Amino acid sequence: MTKMDAESVRPDTLSRGDEIVSRINQLAAISETPAHLARIFLTREHRAAAELILTWMRSAGMAAHLDPIGNVCGRYEGDRPSLPCLMLGSHYDTVRDAGKWDGPLGLITAISCVAELSKRARRLPFAIEVIGFADEEGVRFASTLLGSRAVAGTFDESALGAKDTAGISLREALTEFGLDPGHIGAAARARRELLAYVELHIEQGPVLEAESLPVGVVTAIAGATRLAARLTGMAGHAGTVPMPLRRDALAGAAECIGAIEEFCRTDEGGLVGTVGYIHAMPGATNVIPGQVSFTIDIRAPTDAHRKRAVTDIVRQIEAIAKRRKLALQLDVTHENRTVPCAPWLQQQVAEAIAAEGYRVFELPSGAGHDGMAMIDIADVGMVFVRCRGGISHHPDEHVDLADADAGARVLLRLIENFRPRSGT
Ligand code: GLV
Ligand code: MN
Ligand code: MN
Repeated sequence: MTKMDAESVRPDTLSRGDEIVSRINQLAAISETPAHLARIFLTREHRAAAELILTWMRSAGMAAHLDPIGNVCGRYEGDRPSLPCLMLGSHYDTVRDAGKWDGPLGLITAISCVAELSKRARRLPFAIEVIGFADEEGVRFASTLLGSRAVAGTFDESALGAKDTAGISLREALTEFGLDPGHIGAAARARRELLAYVELHIEQGPVLEAESLPVGVVTAIAGATRLAARLTGMAGHAGTVPMPLRRDALAGAAECIGAIEEFCRTDEGGLVGTVGYIHAMPGATNVIPGQVSFTIDIRAPTDAHRKRAVTDIVRQIEAIAKRRKLALQLDVTHENRTVPCAPWLQQQVAEAIAAEGYRVFELPSGAGHDGMAMIDIADVGMVFVRCRGGISHHPDEHVDLADADAGARVLLRLIENFRPRSGT
């Protein structure tokens, strides 16, 4: 342990950690259902959360607005108007039955750092922008990073036709929300406007806890491929169709899921594969399932490894479908390469961590983040904050107040000592 006990909190900063935790709880109260946190893109809860975040940004001294895709954007001017910005942020959408820290911690901490500068009337030789991305998780339209892709100018217009499980298209949902689907291009920012994009996020894994460290330097964000699969067989009477004559789509999907799990489980290079959603039709006890849709999420430490694995898994699924006489439709809904964090930003994150008295520890991110989209217009840096037991995408997700405070101190120090990459 270095000079500061990682569990201790400096009394003068306790109020910052308190405020962060209080805001985490306020956002967590905005949920589709009170018992299971779910705050999904372009819903009533999205709107309510955005309004709350806008008030926090304004009270931190920022000019704030909602952009054309529903991101919440705040700007704190530098010592002169119109300077390029250091952009900070994270997402405020959630998965279903989510934890309350994944995304909001980075956003709320960034706002709290700006509030601190504003309180001290401190202006820096660059602007600070804080952005709350509207859709990082991709729960509703099965295509992730819609918020950050719009900002990076890489939003794919064909996504407007994607439909949620209720059959509502992204185009319709944007219109219903009061946004103009024809205007998304206006959310895009130019590379020259940004000095860097830096995100603080919970680790979502157990490594920092094992190292007894509250914070860490992120080296890279692992790539991911997501696919949507649909198997079509023949629905029929559960009592009359003999087993050899069936074309049961759900039994076929079960075999595919088993094959995906086995393939990843026996891989020795850190490959992970998940089927997180499945829907069987028509969905009755006494009807053979005629059609099944499911999703596949594949990640690996290197892009080459992931791509090879996807090819092999697709081949296995095709073989299963063929043998069972099921029609197969397989679409890639999301593909992101591994994104390295810029060495010069890693260096500045490390300096901020060391200056706060913690041992500098580097680790990669197995989870995806908005930096995967922002890399197209800015160098990306990330700070990880320890979370209890490495639990995430689960209601038990938890960050100690002391760690939230440590993250805030590191981020504030990083901002105050930030030096743009030489040559910019
Ligand atoms: C985002 O949380 C992801 O990694 O799926
Ligand atoms: Mn997440
Ligand atoms: Mn996240």
